[in-house]
Amino acid sequence: MDRVLSGMQASGKLHLGNLVGALQNWVRLQAQYDCFYFVADWHALTTGYAHPEAIKESTQDLILNFLAAGLDPDKCTIFIQSRIPEHAELHLLLSMITPLGWLERVPTYKEKMQELKERDLSTYGFLGYPLLQTADIIIYRARYVPVGIDQVPHLEISREIARRFNYLYREVFPEPEALLTEFPKVPGADGRKMSKSYDNAIYLSDPPEVIEQKLRTMMTDPARKRRADVGEPELSPVYQLHKIFSSKEELEYVAHGCRTAEIGCIDCKKILIKNVFKVMEPIWAKRKELLNNPDIVYDIVKKGTEKAKKVTRETMELVRDAMGLGKF
Ligand code: TRP
Repeated sequence: MDRVLSGMQASGKLHLGNLVGALQNWVRLQAQYDCFYFVADWHALTTGYAHPEAIKESTQDLILNFLAAGLDPDKCTIFIQSRIPEHAELHLLLSMITPLGWLERVPTYKEKMQELKERDLSTYGFLGYPLLQTADIIIYRARYVPVGIDQVPHLEISREIARRFNYLYREVFPEPEALLTEFPKVPGADGRKMSKSYDNAIYLSDPPEVIEQKLRTMMTDPARKRRADVGEPELSPVYQLHKIFSSKEELEYVAHGCRTAEIGCIDCKKILIKNVFKVMEPIWAKRKELLNNPDIVYDIVKKGTEKAKKVTRETMELVRDAMGLGKF
């Protein structure tokens, strides 16, 4: 079975965009591949080093939601990056062969620095972000990495570094491939992409009444000021969510109702709320069960860490040996 690996950075709570854009895909893949999924807490430190308390909270939230959304510890391996120091050792060793220019020209480097202007990101760790990600991936000799389009440059540098290692020493690493998750952008309450940094997200940890409130007050086509005004569904972020959560019939019904003003925005949102709740209900139930039994979560992470370590130990033997650090 081919191996799949992916991670999520521990810098915020999991929201609906992460659920439908990534996590549900991870759940599908676990039936088909030997999957390794983890929380990247070291990566969160690259930009969030000044707020370690937020990292712990996010790590807990992510692990809980991985399980609540359907990752099954009998089918995949779930772990936390920082529990596996071998990732850091490989990161160090790879740093010996990584030209600075390769890191400096990764487009996310300058973009993120620009985006987070208020933070001081002229650090060694932040420049090395894609190198740490490379270590995360190739230490499992993973074949596929399910990610969104924004991560493609990181996969590109991972492939280059794997190739360089294999060329300088010996064939240890397969070149990982991105498994692109095609997904319509999930809009947040204000119509922009759902993101914790825009304060427009619906979180898996939000209680039902909060989710209902967020959806009820969500932006619609601004042309529909009054109930009798007709609207264009394609201009309404509510309709974009319908495309994800509602049936074809419902989609046609709300589109027609919007264009003719036969239904109001609240009618349209009620259908959406019902469908979002349908997806959320099993997640809420599972979250509750796990919150009441933290030992179960603890145990799953412990077992996942052990399984992951078995692989990383093997890989590191090969790497150390190849780089002149083996036993003599
Ligand atoms: N950079 C990824 C993100 O922001 C998180 C991540 C870290 C990752 N290491 C990884 C993803 C390895 C895939 C594989 O979402």
